[in-house]
Amino acid sequence: TDLSRIRNFSIIAHIDHGKSTLADRLIQRTGGLTEREMSSQVLDNMDIEKERGITIKAQTVRLDYKASDGKDYVLNLMDTPGHVDFAYEVSRSLAACEGALLVVDAAQGVEAQTLANVYQSVEHDHEIVPVINKIDLPAAEPEKVRKEIEDIIGLPADDAVMTSAKSGIGIDEVLEAIVTRIPPPKGDRDAPLKAMLVDSWYDPYLGVVILIRVIDGVIRKGQQVKFMAGGTTHLVDRVGAFRPKIEQLPELAAGEIGFITAQIKDITETRVGDTITDTRRPAAQALPGFKLVQPVVFCGLFPVDANDFEKLRESISKLRLNDASFSFEMETSAALGFGFRCGFLGLLHLEIIQERLTREYDLDLITTAPSVVYNIHLSHSKEEPAKVIQLHNPADMPDPNRIESIEEPWIEATIYVPDDYLGPILKLCQDRRGIQKNLTYVAGRAQLTYELPLNEVVFDFYDRLKSISRGYASFDYHQIGHREGDLVKMNILVNNEPVDALSMIVHRAAAESRGRHMCERLKDLIPRHLFKIPIQAAIGGKVIARETIAALRKDVTAKCYGGDITRKKKLLEKQKEGKKRMREYGSVSIPQEAFIAALRMG
Ligand code: GTP
Repeated sequence: TDLSRIRNFSIIAHIDHGKSTLADRLIQRTGGLTEREMSSQVLDNMDIEKERGITIKAQTVRLDYKASDGKDYVLNLMDTPGHVDFAYEVSRSLAACEGALLVVDAAQGVEAQTLANVYQSVEHDHEIVPVINKIDLPAAEPEKVRKEIEDIIGLPADDAVMTSAKSGIGIDEVLEAIVTRIPPPKGDRDAPLKAMLVDSWYDPYLGVVILIRVIDGVIRKGQQVKFMAGGTTHLVDRVGAFRPKIEQLPELAAGEIGFITAQIKDITETRVGDTITDTRRPAAQALPGFKLVQPVVFCGLFPVDANDFEKLRESISKLRLNDASFSFEMETSAALGFGFRCGFLGLLHLEIIQERLTREYDLDLITTAPSVVYNIHLSHSKEEPAKVIQLHNPADMPDPNRIESIEEPWIEATIYVPDDYLGPILKLCQDRRGIQKNLTYVAGRAQLTYELPLNEVVFDFYDRLKSISRGYASFDYHQIGHREGDLVKMNILVNNEPVDALSMIVHRAAAESRGRHMCERLKDLIPRHLFKIPIQAAIGGKVIARETIAALRKDVTAKCYGGDITRKKKLLEKQKEGKKRMREYGSVSIPQEAFIAALRMG
């Protein structure tokens, strides 16, 4: 295709502002799908993918469009993940485009995510076309939103396109704006091949499918290619595009977006951001900005029913086929049995995986408290020299006597909130050891910048933020490196035995209140026994909080187990059932539910 007839664009938007609905409309209007196939959202929906062989993970569609100038254009629509956890993937997708549609909800206005995405888009020198969506809503205030886009984002919005993606208003205007306002790609068809690996996923029929943007040169079936960062070579066996159904093509040339397959079995061989080149005529230099993404939040996933362990292993392995950014390894816990220690790009990523395991694979899971990755500086010992280790699991905390210092990851958070809720939000950030960097007001809303320890954010920061602001605050963050902190491992002891699943790393100043909270909670959750049970929170040998579960009086049980024989039998049966789910601590039986409840509080 002639470069001047190609437009590569992405859609950026805050969650729920209508990105997927608009994408569906564009596909429909350009004839990619029939009305019946449109019946449910395409770009968002996993089931459709399976049913019709339409690929969704790609979230990239090639559209044929005859513009009002009478010429035929190829529009490549690249959807981007909407959340901060996937910032790097978003960044790669944006790097593959020359422009973006910025979708803003006409009733909600500009949100934190909108800003974050726009900044990224601007960094990639994109032409940005503002689209004010949901103008059909009674609460829509398109003029106000237009002004917000100008005042807050600093983008001219005079020629913003007004749409209702839901009712199909303004769709033609969007298509025309793409053609007339977004520049065509540049690139040299005759130069050595240079293609960016934008995304990859596992398809049961095709193997690993790789989404690419060709920067220079041409890629064809039968070509031997090299992944420059990965260092592997592969034979290309398919080249094509999604319309959204798969269509094989003879080649993809400079400026084009499409997919290749190369008989790759494992997506870990394909790294987002890598450069693909020709083995025989390689590019001199890789594309800039390749980065290996590493999980930042870890937690344990355990089956509630120990018999589900194998099922959990299989399910996790399947999910992993399509998501190289999440990691897992087996873990055993005295309290929870066999499970997996999993690493994620962020909290939302954790929630997505957890939810998919629960919903799609029908597993009942216990998730331990999320933990970040600490750098632990150890002094030398008899056996070993001094070194730094990365700690993902509080249970693996090394001997405190060897610890010289602990560093924790910090983030810079941007919070965007209506004035009315500012006070409590400032307090929340302060309570979480936040350092205020900036506070500005635009159009009745405050934009706050804070530096915060990620550790303080992974617990319940986001939920608290939402509840304090009645859902109006929006939040975005990026990591800014590790900093030393006064951090300690807190153990929870039940009847003087430490419970591994409940130990956590906390800031010394917060330890006491966290510990007290956990002890109080467990006191309510653990049933009484025939003896007194102390519940303690301790740092090293020092107890910092304590509760006691009073003993049951003998006659109470006697009464319980007396009476007629069938009732007694039933009780015994029940007890047997319950035993399976009990864990013994010293001589204390703790029902599994107690752990689950204690862990769910975060
Ligand atoms: P995520 O996939 O969560 O990032 O959201 P999204 O930005 O893709 O939004 P999506 O297209 O899923 O739309 C969110 C909700 O808004 C859905 O319930 C849509 O039906 C609704 N919606 C989208 N566009 C319009 C519109 O023009 N008018 C109205 N009234 N509702 C809309």
